[in-house]
Formats: sequence, C-alpha cells, structure tokens
Amino acid sequence: MNKYNLAFLSSHGGSNMQAIIDACRNRELEMNPALIISNNSGSKALERAKYENIPFCHLSSTTHPDPEEFDRAMKDVLTEYDITLIILAGYMKKIGPQVLSAWSSRILNIHPALLPDYGGQGMYGLNVHKAVIANHEEFTGITVHLVDEKYDHGRILNQQKIPVTPGCTAEELQQTVLKQEHIFFTETLKKIHSGEIKL
Ligand code: GRF
Repeated sequence: MNKYNLAFLSSHGGSNMQAIIDACRNRELEMNPALIISNNSGSKALERAKYENIPFCHLSSTTHPDPEEFDRAMKDVLTEYDITLIILAGYMKKIGPQVLSAWSSRILNIHPALLPDYGGQGMYGLNVHKAVIANHEEFTGITVHLVDEKYDHGRILNQQKIPVTPGCTAEELQQTVLKQEHIFFTETLKKIHSGEIKL
C-alpha cells in the first residue's frame, strides 16, 4: 500500500482519533485523515470532524435500520472517499460482512488491555479496567489488532505493557492507559507505514 487515506470510526470521544489526526497534520505520520464516521450523532468525534474540516457522516441503526443496508451504506461512503485503512477508535458496533471483506486486513482496532485477556463482549470502557484491578494484575496494556467478525479477536499487530499502580482506581487506570494509547496508536501506524508491521 503506498497511500493511506484513513477513515475513523468512533462512537464517543474520539481522543485516539484526534491524536492520529494531530500526528498527520504535523507530518509526524505520512497519512491522510479522509473521513470520520460515527454511529452517534451527538458524539465528540463528529464535533472534532467539523473543527478539523474532515468529511464526516452519521451512520446508525436510526439512519439505516436494516443491518445489510447499514453495511452497504458504510461500504459506499468508504469507497467514495477512496479509503485504504479503517481505524476503529472507540467504535461500539461490529463491522458488517461487506465492509469486512472489502477491507480485509485493513481495519484496525485499539483495545485498552493485553488481548486476548480482557476482551470480547462487554469488555469496554471502565469494565476492562475494573476487571484488571479485581484480578490484582501486575500489568495491563494496549493492543492494536486487525478486526474480524468477532469482538477484539483479529490478529494482534502490536502491544504495549503498562504496570498497574497498586491501589489505583479503575478510573485512574483508564486515564493512564488512554494517555499511552494516544502515543502508541500513532507509533503503530508509523510502523505499518514503514513496513515494520505487516498487515
Ligand atoms: C479507548 O480506550 C480505546 O482503547 C477503546 O475505546 C476508547 C476510546 O477512547 N477501544 P477515545 O474515543 O479514543 O477517546
């Protein structure tokens, strides 16, 4: 792949997306933020899209109640913007079969734990960090992986370990991990660009 037109899929805050956009803007990362899709019309991610002047669209079960039509609409808009890599950054829905097959091995997700541990259905947001603390883990971390039809399941591309400070709360751990995610996701994309990480 010699050009990287990025589409971001984000349901809420989009702080990982913002970190990657910033890295593209300051040429730290030679990729082009081309499109932002959110299933949440009131998301901060869409506010960021407007502020950054990046094309965006809202696709949800309200705009497309039929899952097959939803999948087709997403495929159409990704095609329209000539998207080469899809970045899931806090996207709370599964990707449909049409998009999965058209962008096979080109859809990435970031997860705030060391997969395969603490992943799968229900393992999102604070639930992940509460479970890590409840199990008295010495380390947690970050995983960037390819996306397939199961939650948090595709091939792992890159991981970073993060120590769990004894006595910290789930909220504190979430903040610590999120801060590192912002650096780690961009670093991982740089390694994909250089070929050090193969898709
Ligand atoms: C991050 O912790 C990410 O690992 C997970 O969802 C959160 C998204 O945060 N998949 P943000 O929307 O990027 O701020």
